[in-house]
Amino acid sequence: METPVAPQKKIIFSGIQPSGTLTLGNYIGALRNFKKLEDEYQCIYCVVDMHAITVRQEAAALRKRCLELAGIYIASGLDPKKNVIYCQSHVSGHAELSWILNCFTYMGELNRMTQFKDKSAKHADNINAGLFTYPVLMASDILLFQTDLVPIGADQKQHLELTRDIAQRFNGVYGDVFTIPEGYFGKVGSRIMSLQEPTRKMSKSDPEDTFIALLDPPDVIRRKVKRAVTDSDAEIRFDPANKPGVSNLLSIIAALNDQTPDQVAAELQGQGYGKLKERVADCVIATLEPMQAEHKRLMADKAYLQGVLDENAQIANKMAMKTLRKVQRKVGFADRGR
Ligand code: TYM
Repeated sequence: METPVAPQKKIIFSGIQPSGTLTLGNYIGALRNFKKLEDEYQCIYCVVDMHAITVRQEAAALRKRCLELAGIYIASGLDPKKNVIYCQSHVSGHAELSWILNCFTYMGELNRMTQFKDKSAKHADNINAGLFTYPVLMASDILLFQTDLVPIGADQKQHLELTRDIAQRFNGVYGDVFTIPEGYFGKVGSRIMSLQEPTRKMSKSDPEDTFIALLDPPDVIRRKVKRAVTDSDAEIRFDPANKPGVSNLLSIIAALNDQTPDQVAAELQGQGYGKLKERVADCVIATLEPMQAEHKRLMADKAYLQGVLDENAQIANKMAMKTLRKVQRKVGFADRGR
């Protein structure tokens, strides 16, 4: 099982935290786009377990979720022979570059990060330094591979902007060391909203009934969608400012069917919200059911998953070391004898 790396292709890097159940938001905003880019780019997809421990985790559960997430990557259609799928903690270059880039990032910049503000409000008893420097580790993930394109949801845009600023700052001092990455956002669904509070992002850290988990069985999906908050005017129209609930449901269908939300709204013209919700549930189940079956099959073969992670970590490590050694030399670290 050898993953051939295609160096002539442009590089894609993205990561997902194994910090809880993945949601439909993760799938539509990120995972789904990964598959679309598989042939055109050399893609690197990481299980970012080092990011996950910025919030307290139970060790055994985290370990299990790392393998599960590797399974989700593959079950979503990513070919582990074409894509480099590995765990962040298996490639020490992430932490090493992160230290260096910490020294090129300002406290003021990190203080402005909205995710840090949100997470420190949520975890007021554990506002650790890792939570604060989280975006620098993310920048290191991306810059370590000379990444051209980063497929992410809208909530990670600010982190990507910071990554670009850090890279430009470093390049300004030492010459063209880092490729400056661009973000890739899907046309629809880069911000899927909570089913219960559709003005807030769908998030795995919110209560169960606010999100659809990728591994939710069909009856649970139907129940959650049925209970999704809409509005009282009963008109199916895409208007996120005035009709956030209905617009979110339209976006979900549109993203899963490669349509625009307006097209979906036109198709459902004159129908009630009951029908809209039925369509949402049908589309979500049609997408997730085959993935869930494949995931179940993969999870029954942990040795295979472990093998994929081990081999790919070696490949990622080789790629990462090229950048890391260059950076270490640029900043003036001592030469190595060998
Ligand atoms: P994470 O694990 O929170 O989310 C993984 C991906 O899912 C996207 N996403 C959403 N998209 C649309 N609607 C939503 N409701 C929604 N919720 C989540 C996220 O934008 C993300 O793309 N910091 C990152 C992980 C990371 C990373 C990286 C990403 C670490 N290093 C390097 C890219 C490149 C995070 O916490 O994602």
